[in-house]
Amino acid sequence: MFDTNAVGIVRVTEAALPLLRRSANPTVVTVSSSAGSFWAVTNPDRPEFGLPLALYSASKAAATMLTVQYAKAHPGIKFNALEPGTTATDMTAAFGIGRPPAESAATVVRLATLGPDGPTGTFQDERGDLPW
Ligand SMILES: NC(=O)c1ccc[n+]([C@@H]2O[C@H](COP(=O)([O-])OP(=O)(O)OC[C@H]3O[C@@H](n4cnc5c(N)ncnc54)[C@H](OP(=O)(O)O)[C@@H]3O)[C@@H](O)[C@H]2O)c1
Repeated sequence: MFDTNAVGIVRVTEAALPLLRRSANPTVVTVSSSAGSFWAVTNPDRPEFGLPLALYSASKAAATMLTVQYAKAHPGIKFNALEPGTTATDMTAAFGIGRPPAESAATVVRLATLGPDGPTGTFQDERGDLPW
């Protein structure tokens, strides 16, 4: 879980940094999860509160933290993380839940197409900033 969800981000980001530095508007989007939000998993009003996914949640907290740390380390590159919303994919197929991937992809596209003055080091869902 950590190898794919956290260390994988480091591998791909480090490999991409030389290309990102050559871009006029370098932008990195990390598909994290609100299951990795300390605010959400400790909030009884949130569905994440009842999710018994300790390792997945911890790996996504790491993914969001990596976004913040990369944003601080590379001020010229935008790094933002997101919660896509519950989506019907292979990951959720066993539970029969989630909206169409095209709907969730809208948030990814919004963050991937930010202008040069767009935010960096944020964690968002379709409504905007999400608490950590
Ligand atoms: N679905 C949701 O409701 C939901 C909610 C919150 C966050 N997310 C996040 O959204 C992202 C996409 O998930 P999804 O829902 O689209 O699930 P998915 O359909 O299962 O897709 C996961 C993708 O990750 C790839 N993958 C898995 N292990 C890998 C590895 N070790 N190296 C390289 N690629 C690997 C898979 O490739 P192969 O197909 O080749 O195995 C697959 O393309 C994930 O980060 C997930 O945590 C999803």
